[in-house]
Amino acid sequence: MTELARIGVALSTDLLERFDELTTKRGYTNCSEAFRGLIRAELFRESAKSPTARVVGTITMVYDHHVRLLNDKLIQTQLDFQHLIITTLHVHLDHDHCLEVIVVRGKAAEIEGLANSLIGTKGVKHGQLTPNTRKAMQYYQTQLWCLR
Ligand code: NI
Repeated sequence: MTELARIGVALSTDLLERFDELTTKRGYTNCSEAFRGLIRAELFRESAKSPTARVVGTITMVYDHHVRLLNDKLIQTQLDFQHLIITTLHVHLDHDHCLEVIVVRGKAAEIEGLANSLIGTKGVKHGQLTPNTRKAMQYYQTQLWCLR
């Protein structure tokens, strides 16, 4: 088991009260567990920022399929970056909108380039890249999309 170290942290009472509320809201059983969770999350975010980090993740987008040539452009971009794409899920949400979830794997900088290219295509209403470093495969995120 990993050796434990103890630290003391000085906080303003106002900040501590807000932190206690967050701790309760997120279901942490105690303050130490909450600190560990937040530190791990921040360390994960930092490691995923490295451009050479190998990441797996998802690019999620909602778009209006009536926009002229949009489908063709999105497919062409995916073909140009197919070495990064594992699979794509397409859902026809309603008469106007499509949802696509693209599962990607590769260097963080390349994945970000692909995500920016797709999300920046005219007609894409919402887009989000959710990267995960391979060391943090248990990390997950839920995205909810509002169409209007
Ligand atoms: Ni569709």
